[in-house]
Amino acid sequence: MNVTVFGTGYVGLVQAAVLAEAGNKVVCIDIDNEKIDRLKQGHIPIYEPGLEPMVKNGINTGNLSFSTNAADGVGHGELIFIAVGTPPDEDGSADLSHVLTVAKTIARHMNGKKFIITKSTVPVGTADKVRAAVEEQLAELNRSDLAFDIISNPEFLKEGSAVADCMRPDRIIIGTSEAESEQKLRHLYAPFNRNHEKILVMDVKSAELTKYAANCMLATKISFMNEMANIADKVGADIEAVRKGIGSDPRVGYQFIYAGIGYGGSCFPKDVKALIASAQQLGLSADILSAVESRNERQKHYLAEKILGHYGDNLKGKTFALWGLSFKPNTDDMREAPSRVLLERLWESGAKVRAFDPEAMDECRRIYGSRDDLVLCNSKYDALQGANALVVATEWQQFKTLDIDDLKSILVEAVVFDGRNQYEPSEMQKAGFDYYCVGRPDINTAKNQQPPA
Ligand code: UDX
Repeated sequence: MNVTVFGTGYVGLVQAAVLAEAGNKVVCIDIDNEKIDRLKQGHIPIYEPGLEPMVKNGINTGNLSFSTNAADGVGHGELIFIAVGTPPDEDGSADLSHVLTVAKTIARHMNGKKFIITKSTVPVGTADKVRAAVEEQLAELNRSDLAFDIISNPEFLKEGSAVADCMRPDRIIIGTSEAESEQKLRHLYAPFNRNHEKILVMDVKSAELTKYAANCMLATKISFMNEMANIADKVGADIEAVRKGIGSDPRVGYQFIYAGIGYGGSCFPKDVKALIASAQQLGLSADILSAVESRNERQKHYLAEKILGHYGDNLKGKTFALWGLSFKPNTDDMREAPSRVLLERLWESGAKVRAFDPEAMDECRRIYGSRDDLVLCNSKYDALQGANALVVATEWQQFKTLDIDDLKSILVEAVVFDGRNQYEPSEMQKAGFDYYCVGRPDINTAKNQQPPA
C-alpha cells in the first residue's frame, strides 16, 4: 500500500521502517531538513536496536524514502499517519499544535480520498479536532468534496524493543466507525496479525483513551510497587520476596512490578500528566493518577536520600561512580531519567560524579555540557577510579555482572547504592560492602539511614 508518515521521531520512524519492511511504499515527511538529509543516508538520529539496518534496507529496496516535501507526501499516501510530537503544555496537557498543523497541511495537498491516522499519543477528542481542522482547510480551498476519514491507531512500542514490538504487536487497536477505514487498516496490518487475532476495532474515542489507560496502568503498577518498597524499608521486609509473592498471582502478574528509583522516558511521565490534566478539564479529579505521579517524583530522590543518609549532608570531597544515565536500558534517552535528579542532588551537595552509560554519553554531554563536577568515563571500570562509592541508576545488562573483588579493590570505600536491585544483599555483605538498595534490608545497620518520607 502507499503510506505516508508525518514525523520522523521515535514512533514515526519505527512505524515507517516496519511498514516498508512488510512491502509497503512508505514516504516519511519531516520539516527538519538536516534530519531528512541524514535519514536519506541511512543515519538514524536515535539509538534503537535493529532500526538502522531496517531503515537502510528500506532505502535500498526503494520501499522507504524521506522528504521535506509535504505536497509529494500527501500525493503519495492513501494512508497518512500523523506521528509528530505532543509535548506537554505548561499545565501538563498535550500540546496538539504540531498534530493540527500537519492535519491542515494534509488538507491543503489532498488529491483524493485519504485515510488519516493519528499515531501520536493524543487526548480523547483529538480525532474530532483533526477532523475539524481538515474540514476547515478544505472549506477554505473550496474542496469540501474531497473525502477523508480520521482513524485512531495508537502505538504501544517500548524504547529499546520498538522494532520488535512493532513487528510482533500484542494488539493492534483500530479506532474508527467506517467500514472502509477498518478494511484498509486490516489489510495494512495483515502481515503483523499472525498466530492469533490481534486486531481490536473500536470507536475512535475508546481507542484514544486505551492508549492513555495502558500507559497509566503500567505507571500505576510501578508507583504502587515503589510505595510498597518504601513500606518494606521501614518495616524491614524484602520487596523482592514481596514481588515474587504477589507476581505469582496471575491476576497481578510479574511484569512492571519491579521497585526502583522511578519511571522516566518520553511516555509515562507525559501521559500521566496529560490524563490528569484531561480529567481536570472535565471537572474530575484524577486521585489515583495524581498519587502515581507524586510517588514517582519522590522516588527519583530515593538514592540521593540514601547517599545523604550514609555520608551526611555535605558531600564535598566525595566522588561517586554512576553506572547508568538513560531512563532504562537499551536506549540513549535521558528524558525524565531518574539519573538526572540524582546527578543534580549530588552536585548540589558538593559531590563529583564519574559517570558511564553504554549509550547515553553523548546525550548527557548535550544536556549538561562540560562541568568540573562531572567526568564522563569510557567504561564502567573507568568510572570507578578514585570514586568513594558506586551508584547504579539503570539496570543495563553489563552492570549486572559484578566482579566484587575488582570493585572492592578499585573503590576508595566499599559502598554501593543500587537503585535497581541488581545484586544480592547477602553476597554484598559477605564481601564486606555497605550495600543500599530499594525496599530490601540495607546492609549497614550501624549507620543512621534516612529513607525518604
Ligand atoms: C512505555 C510503554 O511500555 C509502551 O507500551 C508505550 O508505548 C510507551 O511507554 P517506554 O517508555 O519505552 O514504554 O519504557 P518502559 O519499558 O515501559 O519503561 C518505562 C519506565 O518504567 C522506565 O523508566 C523503567 O525503568 C520503569 N520501570 C518499568 C520500573 O521502574 N519498574 C518496572 O517494573 C518496569
